[in-house]
Amino acid sequence: MREYAALVQLLRDRLGLDLGAYQPDSMERRVQAALHRMGVASLANFLTQARQEPSLLQDLVDRLTIHVSEFFRNPELFAVLERRVLPELRSRFGGLRVWSAGCSNGAEAYSVAMLLAELDPGGGWSVLGTDVDRGVLVQAEEGCYRDADVRHVDAARRARFFVREDGLWRVRTELRQRVRFRRHDLLSDPFGGPWHLVLCRNVVIYFTEDAKRALYRRFVEALQPGGYLFVGAAEQVVGARELGLEPTSPFFYRKSAGGSRAASA
Ligand SMILES: C[S@@+](CC[C@H](N)C(=O)[O-])C[C@H]1O[C@@H](n2cnc3c(N)ncnc32)[C@H](O)[C@@H]1O
Repeated sequence: MREYAALVQLLRDRLGLDLGAYQPDSMERRVQAALHRMGVASLANFLTQARQEPSLLQDLVDRLTIHVSEFFRNPELFAVLERRVLPELRSRFGGLRVWSAGCSNGAEAYSVAMLLAELDPGGGWSVLGTDVDRGVLVQAEEGCYRDADVRHVDAARRARFFVREDGLWRVRTELRQRVRFRRHDLLSDPFGGPWHLVLCRNVVIYFTEDAKRALYRRFVEALQPGGYLFVGAAEQVVGARELGLEPTSPFFYRKSAGGSRAASA
């Protein structure tokens, strides 16, 4: 545990990464598994090596996060997004600004972009995907996916938004040009905004309760009043109303008019 604390400190000093915001037991297990895959015998050895060769720290971080994603993950919730949330937001605000926070390989960001392209073709909407892991962002920008990733994409959307390339499904250039990707750490970087819709799904599972609460508070501040936060299908925002979020249907929260005042109180 002392060595784990030393690792947390080293990552904070060298990469500005706050591993202390992740639940220590599960993160320590993940560190051990990652070191095993890197062929490093122990955390003590790793600390010695990483102090001499700091690039090892980024290698480790890239192995710590879970990147599982797919298009229209939980299709029944994307149906709510498509039929209720996006039309409401569009009629209220016009050109929407959407942030997929913890976007992994970009499937989530492109899924929303498809819905926006259908709802508002040629409209002034934009989608930003961000992730702490640079490796997944390269995949996101390339926009190439396996059959399993697109299993919830129907034939009409596959034809409209993808081309086949080397046995993969590649997002067409026109859609790729509408989605930007950027490296961003949810625990330390600014949130920008105001956003009309923030998706933060299956990202916070390893965060401590304090880190989750701080994160949701910052999302509320970054949301436009009337804007939505869409969370993962196993997640909930504890104390949503005190934060200024109104639960509208499972996994969707709308920022109320007084949201930003409540959030910063
Ligand atoms: C399981 S994926 C979720 C992808 C997508 N949101 C979905 O639900 O399909 C979790 C992503 O969160 C990212 N992540 C973890 N900690 C993060 C942090 N502090 N800041 C930004 N992204 C983070 C990981 O790198 C990973 O790509």
